[in-house]
Amino acid sequence: MKRNILITGGAGFIGSHVVRLFVNKYPDYNIVNLDKLTYAGNLANLKDIESKPNYTFVKADIADLDEMRRIVNEYKIDGIIHLAAESHVDRSIKDPFTFARTNVMGTLALLQAAKEYWETLTEKYEGKLFYHISTDEVYGALEMTHPEGVPAPFTTKASSNDDMAYGTEFFLETTKYNPHSPYSASKASSDHFVRAYHDTYGMPTLVTNCSNNYGPYQFPEKLIPLFINNIRNRKPLPVYGKGENVRDWLFVEDHARAIDLIFHKGKVAETYNIGGFNEWKNIDLIKVIIKTVDRLLGNPEGYSEELITFVTDRLGHDMRYAIDSRKLQSELGWEPSLQFEEGIEKTVRWYLDNQEWMDNITSGDYERYYDEMYKNR
Ligand code: NAD
Ligand code: TYD
Repeated sequence: MKRNILITGGAGFIGSHVVRLFVNKYPDYNIVNLDKLTYAGNLANLKDIESKPNYTFVKADIADLDEMRRIVNEYKIDGIIHLAAESHVDRSIKDPFTFARTNVMGTLALLQAAKEYWETLTEKYEGKLFYHISTDEVYGALEMTHPEGVPAPFTTKASSNDDMAYGTEFFLETTKYNPHSPYSASKASSDHFVRAYHDTYGMPTLVTNCSNNYGPYQFPEKLIPLFINNIRNRKPLPVYGKGENVRDWLFVEDHARAIDLIFHKGKVAETYNIGGFNEWKNIDLIKVIIKTVDRLLGNPEGYSEELITFVTDRLGHDMRYAIDSRKLQSELGWEPSLQFEEGIEKTVRWYLDNQEWMDNITSGDYERYYDEMYKNR
């Protein structure tokens, strides 16, 4: 079936994996990648598919309502997968307004443009979908009831770390929103607008909330690529606080596969949580990264542990995130494909093999930004 699908934020980390999957898997779909190319957007992430006949790139700002109207009309968009966002918590603490502008006003502009266009069509909302990608961070932070870890009550292929959980509670689709950072507050607000467009205007929308992603093409301000790069360059590894915060990690291609499945088979107006039941304390995860990088670089075991540097904690640092993704597993049959150790090995190899990609990003402005951030901790 022919379809015209708009993917926003396709030049970013997760978006580039989603664009690649859709362009390769669905030659009958026209895939329009809309991205403003902020510091986090990089067309080098899509070099392998940029000349495919079913792929178009459009540079635009989602907060520009007239541009959104023009693009949705011009490309006769019948499905939207919305990933464009400001995504880094530390930046949101320094500059919350940019997060409100892009994540809240940008999502609203895109919703409004899609609504206006779809309402002009004879079939209106029939066969249309506005799929909004969100985060587990909107649910707030979970208690660390078991700081030493207990056997996890649920596991998936992604689970590793002897299947540990650090608390008894997990985020469910019904968990009340309780965002703490300006980033998660802006994402929560955008999620509410998406649901409001369904509840008020009957627009076919759907939201998914995913845990922390890792894998190739992630901007190196985020923990895993930053630490791989710093180990390679013998730079300090800034661990916030005591490194005891817990995150639930999912390989990015497994998130992209979930998005594909949910876009095609998910129920309108539903929410699905996406995660691998794969909880790690930051410090334990960092030791796995150090071990893997050292092994692949031929360094003796433990060689880079001296780079670990405990620094001032992030303001309002959420203690624990842990997603319960059993609804997605039981209703749509999704499962992570990779075990965590395999995913980390693949990821570290990718960054070490793609040094040019990393160097192009870390030179210039970003280098200055990072040094400034680091100095202030
Ligand atoms: P990213 O920062 O790597 O990429 C964001 C992309 O959006 C970039 O290409 C950027 O240029 C683009 N963008 C930013 N502002 C824009 C604007 N005003 N107009 C158009 N494009 C704009 O982010 P990511 O990690 O790939 O996250 C993608 C989405 O997934 C976000 O909505 C994020 O909240 C969500 N999410 C991320 C994670 C994670 O672990 N990274 C987990 C769950 C959900
Ligand atoms: P991050 O990758 O920024 O994702 P998020 O804050 O959205 O979960 O950070 C992951 C965890 O690692 C988080 O608990 C903060 C911590 N962290 C550090 O300890 N040092 C760092 O330099 C960074 C970037 C993050």
